[in-house]
Amino acid sequence: LTSLPDIEPARLKFIKNTDPRPPPPSSSLVFGQVFTDHMLTIPWSANSGWDAPKIQPYGPLQLDPSCTVFHYAQTLFEGMKAYRDKNGKVTMFRPDMNMKRMNVSAQRLALPTFNGDALLELIKELIRVDKHWIPQEPGYSLYIRPTLIGTQRAIGVGPPNEALLFVICSPVGPYYPQGFKPIALYGTTEYIRAAPGGTGGYKLGANYAPGVVPQKIAAKKGYAQNLWLHGPEHYLTEVGTMNLFVVFKKDNGYIELVTAPLDGMILPGVTRDSVLALAREHISGKSKLTDLPDNLVVSERPVTMGEVKAAADKGQLVELFGTGTAAIISPVDRIGYLGGDVHIPTDPDGMGPVSRVLWKELVGRQLGTIPSEWSVTV
Ligand code: COI
Repeated sequence: LTSLPDIEPARLKFIKNTDPRPPPPSSSLVFGQVFTDHMLTIPWSANSGWDAPKIQPYGPLQLDPSCTVFHYAQTLFEGMKAYRDKNGKVTMFRPDMNMKRMNVSAQRLALPTFNGDALLELIKELIRVDKHWIPQEPGYSLYIRPTLIGTQRAIGVGPPNEALLFVICSPVGPYYPQGFKPIALYGTTEYIRAAPGGTGGYKLGANYAPGVVPQKIAAKKGYAQNLWLHGPEHYLTEVGTMNLFVVFKKDNGYIELVTAPLDGMILPGVTRDSVLALAREHISGKSKLTDLPDNLVVSERPVTMGEVKAAADKGQLVELFGTGTAAIISPVDRIGYLGGDVHIPTDPDGMGPVSRVLWKELVGRQLGTIPSEWSVTV
């Protein structure tokens, strides 16, 4: 038995874009609408494994209309960011997590897995090629979108015998059009995003398409995103494109930072994991964070909308925020729920006492201004 080739950076072919464009001013960027001059493509086939990677001019892919991706949503993706400091140093944040998660998603969809270190090396090369596209203003970065699709030309449902991995890059600022301000969420109870045994815990394209209608309903009612409330108990699970955290003031005086457990319905977000790790290091004393309460506890447990509403009524709801690679940490000031609004406290700067500290610590590690092993040089 011979093993088929994995992704091999040494086989990289580089085709330079001979018609490069100047990157637009950062202030004009709308999230994910402008792309850099180059992209990375790596085809795979069941007979010959991963083919030579190619960095080539950004442009349309040519795909047969029968390709499985178009019919059965054989597509998965990742979201990661690169940062460029004022000295021109380029870094990424915990990219190993994205490589692992992408392989987990690939396995779930019967798409080919790959050596994550090899793909990361190629992504770094792509970023170096288009380095001048990385915005340097605070809050701006290069969003990197690795994607893997099934490209077998066949209408039958099955594991594809051909696939394509590609990576595109987009200079971005804030995810939400209103900028870095608190957002309002609409509690969605009539649709679900995930169910036990489903694919909510994987980063698949198929998890997002059905969320567009609920998001449109939320937008029509004046909310930025929908909040997925699960089951008759109305458990808070995720926001449209983010994980969710709630901060409670407990009767015993403790401040509890809570997020939903990874029960298969929750996306294992890199920002989610980082926020939990920072808070836990603070609590354990491994790395104390100035201005975070000393009486902080962290829980991964289910939270119902009833608990949030009761805490808000009693003045025990400290804050609520979303986390994600695209949105970073995004405070929430209002949740539309069963015809009314639950109001969530925010300080004049739009944040809350816990999210403000976590945001500062997280962004510092992302930008490399706070040294951390999470920051990886490109
Ligand atoms: C991210 O936060 O990077 C995501 O992948 C969410 C995306 C739908 C914008």
